[in-house]
Amino acid sequence: MLLALAMASSASTIRLSSRSLIFSLFFLLPLLISNANANGDAGSAVSICIVGSGIGGSSVAHFLRRYSPPNLNFTIRIFERNGVVGGRMATVNVSGHTFEAGASILHPRNLHALNYTKLLNLTINTPSDSESSSGFAIWDGHKFVFKTLSFKSKLPFAQKIVSLANSLIMLLRYGFSLVRMERFVESAVNNFCKYYEGFETRPVFETVDEMLQWAGLYNLTTRTLAMELADAGLSPLLIQELVTVITRINYGQSVNMSGLAGAVSLAGSGGGLWSIKGGNWQMAAGLIDHSEVDLHLHEEIESISSKGEYYELNSTQRNSYTCDVAVVATPLDELSVQFTPPISIPKRELQHTHATFVRGLLNPVYFGLNSVAEIPELVGTIEDPDLPFSSISVLKQHNENDFTYKIFSRKSMADATLDSIFSVRTETIRINWGAYPHYTAPEVFAPFILDGQHLYYVNAFENAASTMETSATAAENVARLILSRFFTSGPINLANLSSSTDGGVRHVDL
Ligand SMILES: Cc1cc2nc3c(=O)[nH]c(=O)nc-3n(C[C@H](O)[C@H](O)[C@H](O)COP(=O)(O)OP(=O)(O)OC[C@H]3O[C@@H](n4cnc5c(N)ncnc54)[C@H](O)[C@@H]3O)c2cc1C
Ligand SMILES: *[C@@H]1O[C@H](CO)[C@@H](O)[C@H](O)[C@H]1NC(C)=O
Ligand SMILES: *[C@@H]1O[C@H](CO)[C@@H](O)[C@H](O)[C@H]1NC(C)=O
Ligand SMILES: *[C@@H]1O[C@H](CO)[C@@H](O)[C@H](O)[C@H]1NC(C)=O
Ligand SMILES: *[C@@H]1O[C@H](CO)[C@@H](O)[C@H](O)[C@H]1NC(C)=O
Ligand SMILES: *[C@@H]1O[C@H](CO)[C@@H](O)[C@H](O)[C@H]1NC(C)=O
Ligand SMILES: *[C@@H]1O[C@H](CO)[C@@H](O)[C@H](O)[C@H]1NC(C)=O
Ligand SMILES: *[C@@H]1O[C@H](CO)[C@@H](O)[C@H](O)[C@H]1NC(C)=O
Ligand SMILES: *[C@@H]1O[C@H](CO)[C@@H](O)[C@H](O)[C@H]1NC(C)=O
Repeated sequence: MLLALAMASSASTIRLSSRSLIFSLFFLLPLLISNANANGDAGSAVSICIVGSGIGGSSVAHFLRRYSPPNLNFTIRIFERNGVVGGRMATVNVSGHTFEAGASILHPRNLHALNYTKLLNLTINTPSDSESSSGFAIWDGHKFVFKTLSFKSKLPFAQKIVSLANSLIMLLRYGFSLVRMERFVESAVNNFCKYYEGFETRPVFETVDEMLQWAGLYNLTTRTLAMELADAGLSPLLIQELVTVITRINYGQSVNMSGLAGAVSLAGSGGGLWSIKGGNWQMAAGLIDHSEVDLHLHEEIESISSKGEYYELNSTQRNSYTCDVAVVATPLDELSVQFTPPISIPKRELQHTHATFVRGLLNPVYFGLNSVAEIPELVGTIEDPDLPFSSISVLKQHNENDFTYKIFSRKSMADATLDSIFSVRTETIRINWGAYPHYTAPEVFAPFILDGQHLYYVNAFENAASTMETSATAAENVARLILSRFFTSGPINLANLSSSTDGGVRHVDL
């Protein structure tokens, strides 16, 4: 029913070709003003508007196209306040070299990302063997409490021995707790993989709680990582050191974060991690290119008003858009989008991560060492409020005395602090990310459907865990929700989108 009404409401829209734009504007101005809300050149098609061009927004567009029958006529608009797509997938240029500035690593079992890579013909980067056996150490502010061997050799057998020796060093310090940690992560990853099942067995989820419960992941959001790991039998030393280092690197947070976000964070420290050559943002760019999207760059949405049968989205460009379906694909926590009527979501704080890129040379004196060569390629830190950084890693070695480093910290790195850590600094770039939610336990979740109608919120799922793949997974579910809730009656058979073995999941049929 909504579909028919929406079609009627925009039926009088005028199609303008760009060549005759000025001429037409002159004569049609009065008509255009009276139709200020109309859908531009969208004709009578249903209009779906997406706010945000990150992996979430671009994935919604992709799955809407992939799952809809060819006779379903709808337009997709994506609004992006920045001049580039990708959001938190972005690169930084440090003296001519390009590095990931935000989301950098993907897990081998991130099937949506893998599919995108194939579909878009992107090239995969895997960390080279020399990198994987490179040095890692844990700094407590005074000394390295743990250090692996770092031995650079091009000989594969030498690398094998080093990595074997490092496994032994780890085992000696942390014992069989390491195996328990691996089991804990494996179990969470296996549960997550249920989201790749087909429509026959996988329902469409109306809430995040329901989605997590179905996969057996909900309980992990009700307790902290520290509690979950203690129950799993991990030693306090492993939790205080290695686990803490990993959660600080991946989420800038302590082991007091929720168990689920913690498990995801630990999964992002295993083997087989990969990224996309030239930048992960190309996934978003490619998905948008392949999904017949009308992309509006430099257009920030400042208000979303429900007008009963449609939504009115106003932008800072002073444009007003009529949308039958509106999708918010960005965290709302630090945004000032005005909703009419107001929406209510649980208050959530974002963890800010300061990514600082430095071209130069670390000062071994800072670490109580004699030479730069002794500093491991990845320095993680334990929880101590006096530590100015969470991690420092080598991104590239240009020559013996010239490196590019990446530093993660919870606060901005002051020049004076950098001057004590580095002996040489030729370029410094600082990025302050509203990076991901600050995770607590128990978590509370915003709904996927913000108003019970057709206003959707992809990033409600981010309170479970924030990664490129979780965004894509939430987006896939939201695309199914839209298709099953908006386009229902009529000749279009969308039965395949809903689950046949309906595991207690509701469908609102309009
Ligand atoms: C430093 C850092 C490291 C990370 N590391 C990893 C990692 O290694 N692996 C991993 O998987 N994940 C990682 N993440 C998390 C990952 O980046 C996010 O989970 C994911 O990219 C979120 O995608 P999204 O599309 O949901 O949101 P975003 O990428 O934030 O996209 C939202 C988009 O909406 C736009 N927008 C916001 N408001 C408006 C508005 N009013 N109008 C128009 N446009 C608007 C924004 O400009 C942005 O482009 C990392 C994040 C950070 C910050
Ligand atoms: C979709 O709608 C537009 C606008 O009315 C129309 O021009 C186009 O032919 C339609 N496409 C299909 C496949 O029906
Ligand atoms: C990086 O920036 C420099 C100038 O700051 C520019 O000359 C160069 O083309 C940029 N490189 C890339 C890969 O964007
Ligand atoms: C995919 O990429 C390869 C190498 O970059 C190129 O040779 C090939 O033509 C590309 N194929 C498509 C379909 O774009
Ligand atoms: C990946 O793509 C293949 C081929 O299109 C498809 O069969 C499979 O279901 C996709 N996987 C996911 C997780 O969407
Ligand atoms: C989650 O916790 C509840 C209550 O403690 C329990 O009944 C349920 O079996 C748990 N579910 C899983 C999947 O562990
Ligand atoms: C974690 O929580 C415990 C118990 O509430 C608290 O004592 C500790 O200080 C917290 N640690 C951090 C790093 O916030
Ligand atoms: C959005 O723009 C329209 C047209 O300019 C205007 O009438 C309306 O009041 C605006 N809505 C909000 C919430 O600002
Ligand atoms: C959709 O479901 C019908 C009947 O259940 C089946 O015949 C058809 O192959 C399915 N289509 C797809 C694309 O899965």
